[in-house]
Amino acid sequence: MQHPLLQIHQLTRHFKMGDRFVAVLNNSHLHVQKGETIALLGRSGCGKSTLLNLLAGIDLPDSGHVFINNENLGQMNEKTRTQFRRRHIGFVHQFFNLIPTLTAAENIALPLELNQQSNSEIKIRVKKMLKEIQLEERADDYPEQLSGGEQQRIALARALIHQPMLVLADEPTGNLDAQTGKQILNLLHTLVKQMNCTLVMVTHSLAVARNANRILTLDSGKISEQPGDFAW
Ligand SMILES: Nc1ncnc2c1ncn2[C@@H]1O[C@H](COP(=O)(O)OP(=O)(O)OP(=O)(O)O)[C@@H](O)[C@H]1O
Ligand SMILES: [Mg+2]
Repeated sequence: MQHPLLQIHQLTRHFKMGDRFVAVLNNSHLHVQKGETIALLGRSGCGKSTLLNLLAGIDLPDSGHVFINNENLGQMNEKTRTQFRRRHIGFVHQFFNLIPTLTAAENIALPLELNQQSNSEIKIRVKKMLKEIQLEERADDYPEQLSGGEQQRIALARALIHQPMLVLADEPTGNLDAQTGKQILNLLHTLVKQMNCTLVMVTHSLAVARNANRILTLDSGKISEQPGDFAW
């Protein structure tokens, strides 16, 4: 049988809050198959962003393991883990996080540059991606010249340009109006499917979550699977 694309095993992460330690993740387990889309719901402060940071190897757990494509992030040294992240993971943030001094095209090109692709290859792929997200005309504009929805389209393009195995999205529509949010969500799902990526997306919206294959909740350090007709 094929191994899961993403596996977490007995994952525990504590933070000191005031004078006590609180387990944001407590001995949690999760398996995600290749190509699956997962929505993660939970109240503010329950640990959703912390979990995404652990999945990306940006943060490390107090105990337990994260495996991506059977590779244990915790067993890599920092340099290898950074290279692994650049190559295999795409991250989409709530506040777009584009680099203000780079143009739209340069922002999209960034992961390819970090992965040492040739200039000619980068040019071709960025052009194709700009067409995909229907922003060819805005290639040379800077983020501040773009609307929120346009910036998020650029951010999606940047997260997916290097065809990562795993895309992590932290409330990707949380900072947009409902209609723009819907468009961004459709674009995200289209790109993820096209590139055969696996998606873990944090959201506060049940409507958004229903677009995913599976809905998970995080509460008191535990990840639970919810039925499709789950009410929030
Ligand atoms: N580096 C840190 N040091 C101390 N506490 C932290 C750290 N990172 C997160 N926390 C705490 O862990 C808890 C979970 O934070 P996290 O950002 O993961 O929540 P969240 O579910 O993403 O919330 P939101 O929906 O508001 O984005 C919070 O109480 C937060 O204060
Ligand atoms: Mg968060």
